[in-house]
Amino acid sequence: MNAGVIGIGRYLPEKILTNADLEKIVDTSDEWITSRTGIEERRIASDDMDTADLAFEAAKVAIENANITAEDLDLILVATVTPNTPFPSVACMLQEKLGAKKAAAMDVSAACAGFMYGIVTAKQFIESGAYKNVLIVGAEKLSKITDWEDRNTAVLFGDGAGAVVLGPVSEGRGVLAFELGADGTGGQYLYQEKYIMMNGREVFKFAVRQMGESSLQVLEKAGLTKEDVDLLVPHQANIRIMEASRQRLELPVEKMSKTVHKYGNTSSASIPISIVEELEAGKIKDDDLIVMVGFGGGLTWGAIALRWGR
Ligand code: UT7
Repeated sequence: MNAGVIGIGRYLPEKILTNADLEKIVDTSDEWITSRTGIEERRIASDDMDTADLAFEAAKVAIENANITAEDLDLILVATVTPNTPFPSVACMLQEKLGAKKAAAMDVSAACAGFMYGIVTAKQFIESGAYKNVLIVGAEKLSKITDWEDRNTAVLFGDGAGAVVLGPVSEGRGVLAFELGADGTGGQYLYQEKYIMMNGREVFKFAVRQMGESSLQVLEKAGLTKEDVDLLVPHQANIRIMEASRQRLELPVEKMSKTVHKYGNTSSASIPISIVEELEAGKIKDDDLIVMVGFGGGLTWGAIALRWGR
C-alpha cells in the first residue's frame, strides 16, 4: 500500500505587508530585501486569528478536496513552531474545530522541515495499514514571534497554512522515498527566545549544502535521476538558497516552484502552499515526479520524492 496526497489546500491571511511598508518600520530597503532574499511581500494574520485558525482554514479545503469528511480522519498532525499554546496542541484544537471525532492528534516540531517530518510520519501509519486518512498541516503565525525592530529577521517571515490529506493511492504513486535528518549541534544558529534569533550566514551555508544533498539522496533512494524530476518544491526561505538547489539538480527555472516573492518564509507551510499554487497554475499532472525539500531550525532537514496522483 502506498501513501500519497489525496487532498490539498492552503490559506493565506488577506493583509499584505510589502517591502515598502517595512521600510517605514526598520532600517531597510526594497532593493536590499528583493536582491538578498527575493521577497517582495508577505501576509500577516489578523489579531483574532492564531495558528489553529490558519490551520483550520487550510484543512477544510484539503478535506473537501480529498472528497472525505472530517470524521473520516484517523490522525491529525500539525507541523508548527508557533502553536497557540504549548498544550493543548494545535492538532487537538484543530480536531475540535473540524469535529474530527475519530482522529488522534499531535503536533510535530521540526521547524521549517516540519511538513516533511509530518508526511513521513503519516506515511508509516498508512503503509502499515494502521490508518487510512491522515491530515498533515503546516501552519505558522510567525508574525507573533518576529522582532519588528530587528531588520535581520523582520523582513523574512510571513503567516500562512498549507494542508494535505495523505491516504492510500494506486501503485507507483505517492511517496516513493524520503530523507530526514537533524544536527542538534547547529541549534544555536536558529532558535526562539522571545523572538526568532538567527545567524543568517550560517543558516544560509547549511541550507545551500543540505537542500542540494538531500534532493540528490532522495532521488537515489527512489532509483531515479535528476532528469526524472518534473517539479522541485523547495522550502521558500530565500530565492538564492532555492536557486542553488535548482542548479544542483540542473533543472530549468520553470521546473522550480516559487512563491517566496509573494509570501516570504512561512516555515512549515511554504511547501504545501507552493504545491497548491502549482496545481492552480496547471503545472502538476498525474504521474509527475515532485521533489520537496526543506530545512529549518534544529537544525533539521527533509526531502521527499512523490509521484503525483491518487
Ligand atoms: O527557514 C529558515 C530561516 N532562515 C533562513 O533561511 C535564513 C538564511 N539566510 C539568509 O537568507 C541570508 O543570510 C539573509 C537574507 C538573512 C542575509 O543575507 P546575506 O547576504 O547573508 O547578508 P549578511 O547577513 O551577510 O548581511 C549583509 C549586510 C549586513 O551589513 P554589514 O554588516 O555588511 O554592514 C547586514 O547588517 O546587510 C545588512 N542587513 C540588512 N540591510 C538592509 C541585514 N538585514 C538587512 C535588511 N536591510 N533587512
